[in-house]
Amino acid sequence: MNILVLGSGGREHTFAWKISKSPLCKSLFVAPGNSGTSEVATNLPISVTDFGAIKEAVIKYDIEMVVVGPEDPLVQGVHDFFLNDDALKNVSVIGPQKAAAELEGSKEFAKEFMQRHNIPTASYQSFTSETINDGYNFLETLQPPYVLKADGLAAGKGVLILDNLEEAKKELKQMLIDSKFGNASAKVVIEEFLDGIELSCFVLTDGEDYKILPTAKDYKRIGEGDTGLNTGGMGAVSPVPFATEDFLNKIEDRIVRPTVEGLKKDNLPYVGFIFIGLIKVGDDPKVIEYNVRMGDPETEVVLPRLKTDLVAIFEAMGNGTLSNINIEIDQRAATTIMLVSGGYPEAYEKGKEINGVDTIQDSIPFHAGAQLKDNKIVTSGGRVMAITSFGETHQEAIKKSYQSIDRLSFDKMYYRKDIGFDL
Ligand code: AMP
Ligand code: GLY
Repeated sequence: MNILVLGSGGREHTFAWKISKSPLCKSLFVAPGNSGTSEVATNLPISVTDFGAIKEAVIKYDIEMVVVGPEDPLVQGVHDFFLNDDALKNVSVIGPQKAAAELEGSKEFAKEFMQRHNIPTASYQSFTSETINDGYNFLETLQPPYVLKADGLAAGKGVLILDNLEEAKKELKQMLIDSKFGNASAKVVIEEFLDGIELSCFVLTDGEDYKILPTAKDYKRIGEGDTGLNTGGMGAVSPVPFATEDFLNKIEDRIVRPTVEGLKKDNLPYVGFIFIGLIKVGDDPKVIEYNVRMGDPETEVVLPRLKTDLVAIFEAMGNGTLSNINIEIDQRAATTIMLVSGGYPEAYEKGKEINGVDTIQDSIPFHAGAQLKDNKIVTSGGRVMAITSFGETHQEAIKKSYQSIDRLSFDKMYYRKDIGFDL
């Protein structure tokens, strides 16, 4: 069949790389894609939220399956758009409908969902500009640090963690009254701070059954030793060494199963990935957040470990037969290290030529903010390329990625030299 992937990051290059290996895929398209996806697919210059142009392409290229990479089109209802259009309604869309995408689109919706289904998470209350005084009072009842979350999508920047009560009150005012994150902070969730180590769990569901993919951990901060500003992710490892079998069983029993059951009870149709951000508090998992898509750069370590044909899995998800699929995982460790433009996550320059990509042998370079220009690969974003390697141990895989990176260069290239330091 012909397949379209929506998105343009390292995650989407990894999807395209994996899908292109499937005998079930005839022609593969990526919109808008990057220099990496153009190696394995045809890029279409279409924005992921231009539903009209996506429709035209789906008809023109006889596309039968659409795999949605990022959250924006899902939260804006791309799956519903397909279902409500006679020409598109038989196309299989991998990604939840708008109502369920609210698990990522609204923090308050996600918290209410977890409360309703007894899924362990931090206790919380939410506030608007009308109830800001109640918000101040609530902050006074909490111990620092204070966790403030913009309710809506804020490009990963909407969570603030503050040590000081006065600062927390000031930020609450900026979010609610001064629209610090635009409309996304018209409502703010204030929650209990959870102290522990983070990991992520990835679930596939057809709305009825589920399969759990390998765990992964990303490194969010720009600086070594997990310091400095938050980024989209500077590297990732899979599996997560501290996720023992006993702990994974707790995640499945207390979180994954109640989540899929909860979606059913609430009549929220869901065909897609559920990315559950977790924190290990003592010996127990608690949910920090839901995302309705795969993580980036977690995809760059999770999908390479998947041995099963990804298109066969997606087909089964679309048909409601996921329970018949056997998920096979490569037992080796996978790690990825993200090369970024100097200055990221603040201002940075683009258009720098990336040298050495074709000399990489022991790793897989997944392109992110990289584009072809005059037959050269040039930088086009903050996160430029994720260098993934396998190893019998995490250390071996990490070493391979760093050796590959030694062959790569572009002006002001930066990467963390300590990915995996804590393992
Ligand atoms: P989120 O955008 O919800 O993933 O939050 C961003 C980051 O803030 C998470 O990856 C955590 O490191 C941190 N965080 C969010 N909520 C809490 C919490 N309740 N307690 C401690 N850290 C949190
Ligand atoms: N790496 C975190 C995310 O994709 O949200």
